[in-house]
Amino acid sequence: MEKAEAKTRIEELRNTLKEYNRRYYVDNSPVISDMEFDFLMHELETLEREWPEFYSPDSPTQRVGSDIEDNNKGGFVQRAHRYPMLSLSNTYSKEEIIEFASRADKILEGREFSYCCELKFDGTAICLSYSHGLLVRALTRGDGQKGDDVTTNARMISNIPQHLKGDYPEDLEIRGEVLMPYQAFDKLNEERIRQEEAPFANPRNAASGSLKLLDPQEVKKRGLYCTLYHIPAQSPAASLADSHSALLDKAAQWGLPISEHKRICRNIDEIIEFIDYWDVKRKELPYATDGIVIKINELDCQRDLGYTAKSPRWAVAYKFKAERACTKVLSIDYQVGRTGAITPVANLEPVLLAGTIVKRATLNNAEQMALMDIRINDSVYVEKGGEIIPKICGVELSLRPSDSRPAVFPSECPDCHSPLVKAEGEAKYFCPNSKLCPMQIKGRLLHFTSRKAMNILAGESTIEQLYNLGLAKSPADLYELTAPELLSLEGWKERSALRFLDSLRESKKVPFERVLFALGIRYVGEQTAKEIALHFGNMDKVLAAGEQELAEVKDVGDVIAQSICEFSADPQNRREVERLAASGLQMEVAEQAGKISEELAGKIIVISGNFSVSREEIKTLIERHGGKNSSSISSKTTFLLAGSKAGPEKIRKCEELNIPIINEEDFRKMLPEEMRKEEIVSELSLF
Ligand code: IVH
Repeated sequence: MEKAEAKTRIEELRNTLKEYNRRYYVDNSPVISDMEFDFLMHELETLEREWPEFYSPDSPTQRVGSDIEDNNKGGFVQRAHRYPMLSLSNTYSKEEIIEFASRADKILEGREFSYCCELKFDGTAICLSYSHGLLVRALTRGDGQKGDDVTTNARMISNIPQHLKGDYPEDLEIRGEVLMPYQAFDKLNEERIRQEEAPFANPRNAASGSLKLLDPQEVKKRGLYCTLYHIPAQSPAASLADSHSALLDKAAQWGLPISEHKRICRNIDEIIEFIDYWDVKRKELPYATDGIVIKINELDCQRDLGYTAKSPRWAVAYKFKAERACTKVLSIDYQVGRTGAITPVANLEPVLLAGTIVKRATLNNAEQMALMDIRINDSVYVEKGGEIIPKICGVELSLRPSDSRPAVFPSECPDCHSPLVKAEGEAKYFCPNSKLCPMQIKGRLLHFTSRKAMNILAGESTIEQLYNLGLAKSPADLYELTAPELLSLEGWKERSALRFLDSLRESKKVPFERVLFALGIRYVGEQTAKEIALHFGNMDKVLAAGEQELAEVKDVGDVIAQSICEFSADPQNRREVERLAASGLQMEVAEQAGKISEELAGKIIVISGNFSVSREEIKTLIERHGGKNSSSISSKTTFLLAGSKAGPEKIRKCEELNIPIINEEDFRKMLPEEMRKEEIVSELSLF
């Protein structure tokens, strides 16, 4: 390769990999498979090695992918890591494991050492700090130097202990992974698909997205799980043992969740045995793993081997290849969603993949179909790797039969026959007939009635009947249905009609954020609706908001802002909202939103000084328990919450006005039991 050519390719790879990193770590929505990513990274590494004159400290080979959002819109405070939080060098080849071992051997000049082999958990990295046995901080990996402070969310993960037990060190920093077990992942994605929200591509993305939610109560519901695997050898706690595995055993005694699936190996054969065993056995685990991590076990050896800019020299990850199956495409359906998006779905000759029979797989969009040049009767590769909807990842051209037929993406809506449109920059074709396309109308009604929206007792067949009889064309029509009308439905008796009417009545109590979600505004998922509702407080303000104002809300970018504005600009939508409001639906945030308890109701609290957690966290805690945080002391102040180095002026004023001064410990005692008691580390049946 010529120098100029190498330079261009290096630049191209750097840009592409940076973008892929952003899609993976920030958007939690990867665009290529891990293996494809690793191969591109490998190509870049090789080129940079061959052409050292193009070295750049900014290259993705020199930095870990950052999970911090641009402009720090994520809403989390960032804090520096005490020790950089790096990545692992990885490989798909066993030969490279041998090379890793001989490199280490050479640097250690023949010293004896062993390996600790562990599972490579496929979640999102977390760093926990305990001070005097108390959990004080949880940071994400961020850019490796600083991470997002997700302490409040980490407290919602049931197996992260708030307090350590036994003979724990005064100061402990321990790292690990936050995972979403398959069961919780499937449940979450099923719901997202039903709501036409983009499902998470895999449990890793779901875990990472969930850890960064703004509402800790929502985090609690996500069923996250934590496993810890690393105490930095340079940290004080590491002096308590000679080896990594002994240190982890101690951590387990302090009540921390440590995986039992680790093994000390003396040589390469034992490492390979461990790899081969788990390549099969991992399919029985309740959470995703994507490889094996091989670590040099002796801590003094780890210290001597040290780090490169991006990863330790004392560890390497062997990655498993994703599971695939080969089968035949029988036909392709084109589904019309409630937003009009057309999704091609292939019907397949049934095939066994990762323990389940796969009959259908998504093709995502027309572009992807064209890229693959997929044809009916083609043999295709189907991948699952944690995702609940399998996807087609390639065509085996060598098996293409002579009777294969090109798959033609329709030019019109399969339901209402309107010509399809595709906006610039969009991957999907849409049926533009949103007002009249029956599939879209029925889809919107079904979305409106769904459990996470208004929770009205109406499934697909009820909606179908109501629509076909001309009784319901929009959600507001549902509230005008009468008992005789319902009794005219086939198979409906008095009891079913009454139950349906009851559920309609109950739905009027559904909080505003769910009403907003139920409207089915394009791109406004459950979580986004919540953020918007809390930000604006009521429907009038949402409808009056401009794009710029909307884009200030967490999770709302230009596309979502534009979609909301389009919705509000449509007179028919406004009329619909008016009718819903007239039927008595909640159109403003209830006082209680986001509240956990009322323990601090009516209390006006001033805070001063430093606490075991950030001041922001303390403020949120006050608000979530019904209290009010105020910045200055007055006769109305209920008490001063004083941390270390509390302002002397505030203390003096409290004494003058006879206002109680309370420390953090006593403050926490005011909160409901579950917020402060020692979490019992449930070993569950997971590890
Ligand atoms: S040790 C200096 N052990 O894999 C890095 N990492 O691809 C020390 N990971 O960033 C990390 N399982 O988030 C370690 N048993 C394990 C792991 C593990 C998963 C993650 C970790 C790391 C990433 C690198």
